Amino acid sequence: MPKPQDLIELSYLSESVSDMSFLGLMRLLESARAFNQKHGVTGILLYDNQQFGQVIEGERQNIMKVWKRIQEDKRHHRIELLEIREISSRSFPTWLLRFYGGDTLIKDYPALAEVVGGMDKHSLELINKMRATQ
Ligand SMILES: Cc1cc2nc3c(=O)[nH]c(=O)nc-3n(C[C@H](O)[C@H](O)[C@H](O)COP(=O)(O)O)c2cc1C
Repeated sequence: MPKPQDLIELSYLSESVSDMSFLGLMRLLESARAFNQKHGVTGILLYDNQQFGQVIEGERQNIMKVWKRIQEDKRHHRIELLEIREISSRSFPTWLLRFYGGDTLIKDYPALAEVVGGMDKHSLELINKMRATQ
């Protein structure tokens, strides 16, 4: 049995193989959130200009399961692992997968602007890294 407090956080950047549609993103989020809920995984997903940035946190064995699903997903490629680190508490305890669309997405889908805002430290770091690789 794993220790209940064997918590880790994993972050990565990737590139979508084609421009994600609003529906495509919603479908992805639905499937991801369902799996995350079953496995006690929380986190954030950012999408802007065909780039993804994600931070997930949870018990090590569950994070490894999610990481495998993420790496096997053909909707994105050039997956670059940023960091895996042990944490003592979660940054997003109430978010199965909080979604932030960047400027580009908000222009196309103004309704999404409502879910953006209140950017935390992780999101800002990821956005900056995403921009640096564009
Ligand atoms: C950018 C991106 C982020 C993802 N994030 C998660 C995630 O947080 N949790 C998860 O279980 N799967 C995640 N996935 C994987 C997909 O949700 C999942 O493997 C895919 O939709 C297949 O799901 P299905 O088995 O329901 O068909 C992600 C995939 C991509 C491309």
